Amino acid sequence: MATVVAGSSVPGLAMDIARELSADFIGVATSRFPDGELHIQIEEPSVARRVYYVQTMAPLPNERLTELLLTCDLLSELGCREIVAVVPYLGYTRQDHRKAPGEAVSVGTLFRLLEGVGVKEIVSVDIHLHRLSVDALKEMTDIEIKEVSAMPLLAKKCSIEEPLVVAPDMEAMRWARSAAEALKMEYAAMEKSRITPTKVEVSFGKLNVSDRNIMIVDDIVSTGGTMIETAKLLKSKGAGKVYAAFTHAVFSSVDCIANMFNAGITSLISTNTIQNEFSTVNVTELIASALS
Ligand code: R5P
Repeated sequence: MATVVAGSSVPGLAMDIARELSADFIGVATSRFPDGELHIQIEEPSVARRVYYVQTMAPLPNERLTELLLTCDLLSELGCREIVAVVPYLGYTRQDHRKAPGEAVSVGTLFRLLEGVGVKEIVSVDIHLHRLSVDALKEMTDIEIKEVSAMPLLAKKCSIEEPLVVAPDMEAMRWARSAAEALKMEYAAMEKSRITPTKVEVSFGKLNVSDRNIMIVDDIVSTGGTMIETAKLLKSKGAGKVYAAFTHAVFSSVDCIANMFNAGITSLISTNTIQNEFSTVNVTELIASALS
């Protein structure tokens, strides 16, 4: 029998997963030393051989990563031999190649760190990838990687009538395809250039969106720039209602929600991989089915 161990980021989701799997559940007490260092203590030190450690990597990805590493290492020390890291939002995957000399390829570092603390398997939702495919990612590590997708659930939650599903960039094409298949609707992709981390430009060719309802889909909303520029362009070309559906509500800027509404998006639909006020899609069953 496996035990679900809850990190501090999504304890409610961890509890739901434990309930879904009829597994034992234990929490991890976290506190801080005066200088900010984390102190970790597992409530029940005699843990199972197989554990599902649940920790999403937002908000505060650096804090979450440190907690994840400390806890998995502790679990290894306590005798767990099959540590499955359930990381609904897997951070540090953006940097997947070296653009400039001396730049860190963080995704490689992430996997080496996780291997080092005994993680044998990662279960995650809609992994944020740029140039790499999931298969290429799997080749970078001995850790078994299982990805589940919330896109069909997000698409079905979107109550907009007969939408054209739009990917704001080529990387989001796989999300758009999956959402469109779930709705049996068409999909199309825009082209995006990122000018700076907070500024993007989008364009599309001959796509006719006049009076079409649109569902923009993406894995992440961080600054909101991608959704905002895409919505503005679609609206300027005569689109009807524009909804935004995305798995991970990273929401790194305080204004991003208001700015998305101001750009003409009338509904936001997200999941609880990062708990937020638009988390109408629950990923518990998706994750539990990947674990069972
Ligand atoms: C990029 O490839 C991702 O899929 C998202 O489009 C991007 O991370 C969203 O970031 P932001 O909200 O800052 O534009």
